[in-house]
This record gives sequence, structure tokens and C-alpha cells, in this order.
Amino acid sequence: MSKSWVLITMAAAALFWGPVASAQEEGGIALEHSGADISNTESLQRGARNFMNYCSGCHSLKYLRYNRMAEDLKIPESELAGNLMFTTDKSFETINSAMPKDSESWFGKQPPDLSLMARARGTDYLYSYLKGYYVDKTRPWGVNNLYLPSTAMPHVLQSLQGLQKPVYKNEPDALGNARMVLASLAIMTPGTMKPEEYDQFVRDIVNFLDYAGEPVKAKRQSLGVFVTLFLLVFFVFAYLLKKEYWKDVH
Ligand code: HEC
Repeated sequence: MSKSWVLITMAAAALFWGPVASAQEEGGIALEHSGADISNTESLQRGARNFMNYCSGCHSLKYLRYNRMAEDLKIPESELAGNLMFTTDKSFETINSAMPKDSESWFGKQPPDLSLMARARGTDYLYSYLKGYYVDKTRPWGVNNLYLPSTAMPHVLQSLQGLQKPVYKNEPDALGNARMVLASLAIMTPGTMKPEEYDQFVRDIVNFLDYAGEPVKAKRQSLGVFVTLFLLVFFVFAYLLKKEYWKDVH
């Protein structure tokens, strides 16, 4: 392999693995795999409902309109107006939060818009983050987060997940001195959901946020398959035609 090919391959590998590696370094603990699948419309519908009920109080999705979401996710108008639109009654509006501008003084930070969060951070990070809360009496809300230490966001899904406690393990440092490091989290007080139910609940929200980050993604992917198949079939005909044209030329 020539030198330039080695360079090109390395650059491509860096592009592909770079964001994953940096996201994993975030809390020093590997991210959990979200398993989100934007072709699963039912999961997206549940995710939209979960988002509106548990997140839209603080977070907006300023690039997504209600009517666009309803159309993409096959949500009937009546369901949209009755159960999903809390901050407006006009379905052509974008999804705003109920949060006033001065909410920064309540949390120490303005809750960010989540339109592009799945693209910026990746779905595995969002999934891990929403599962990463644990009890920490030193923090203002009584909880901390494994993946975003000292997060300003309270554990808004605590009633569903319950409270987790940190589990430490002894990992001697380079000099061999004993050192306790946070290894994992374990349920301390159960919530109203079983762990698998909570995982699915969070997966649906993450899936919805992935959709919100690029509403045409599902269409783009299915169109991509169609275009590739078309090109394959077209290639066969083009090849037969070429043979036909050239058969008398030798
Ligand atoms: C009570 C208000 C409130 C609610 C409700 C809320 N959040 Fe947050 N959220 C915040 C605040 C404040 C921050 C800023 C945290 C920080 O940067 O430390 C934040 C930050 C985030 C972030 C960015 C994390 C990062 O790495 O920067 C994500 C993702 C997020 N929230 C997702 C959600 C989801 C999903 C829900 C619904 C299940 C939700 N939030 C509900 C207040 C809220």
C-alpha cells in the first residue's frame, strides 16, 4: 500500500472513530448502547409523548414544527392537539419549552435546545446520560450524573427509574496506593418502572431526539436503499446494451 493510501485510510478511521472515542472519555466510563432505531415509528410516537410530558417543560426543539412531527410520525390531529401540544394551540409552530428566559437563575444554566443534541452528542450518550443519575447529597438536587458530572439538570425521571447509588471499586493508582473509583450504579430505591421498562422509555425518547435532529433521516435511508437497488438493476441493462452495441466491432 502506498503512503498516501495509508494516510487516507487513517484519516477516514479517525473521522469514523474520533467522535465515539471522545464521547466515551466524557465520564471515564463506557457509554451504554442505546439501540435506538428511527425506522420504528411506534417507538418514535412513544418518544414524542414522553418528551412532551417530561422534557418540553424545560427544553425546546426549535427546528421542529408540531405538524411536521405529526405527519412524519403518523400522529392523528386529535391526538396532537389533545395530548402533545402544551405550549401552543397552533400546530405550525415549532416546539417551544414552557421555560421563561430567566430560568438560568433557577438551575444555574439555561436548559439547552435539544434539536441538534442527538447529532452533537450521539444517541448512546443521551441514553447513558438519562440512565446515569445517582444519589449525591452534595449536589443541589441531591443527585449527580455519571456522564455529566455536576449536571445542572435535576433527575426528572426519578419517579420512574427510582434512585441509584454509586458502586465504587478499588483501583490502585500508578504508585500502588489504594484508590476508590466509581465503577457502576445500582438501584437503591426502585421507581414505578422495572429496569427494562425504564430502558425502553429512555430509548424511545432518545430515538425521538435522533429523529428531531434530522427529520428526513428515515426517508433518506429508505430512499438510499431504493436508489442502490435501482442502480444495480440499471447496471445490468446498461451492460447488456453495451454488449449489444459492441458485438459486431472487433
Ligand atoms: C426542570 C428542567 C428540566 C427538565 C424537565 C429536563 N431538563 Fe434536561 N437540562 C436541564 C438543564 C438545566 C440542563 C443543563 C445541564 C448542564 O449543562 O449541566 C439540561 C441539559 C440536558 C441535556 C444536555 C446534556 C449535556 O451533555 O450537555 C440533555 C441531553 C437533556 N437535558 C435532556 C433532557 C431530557 C431528554 C429530558 C426529559 C426526559 C429533560 N432533559 C428534562 C433542565 C431540564
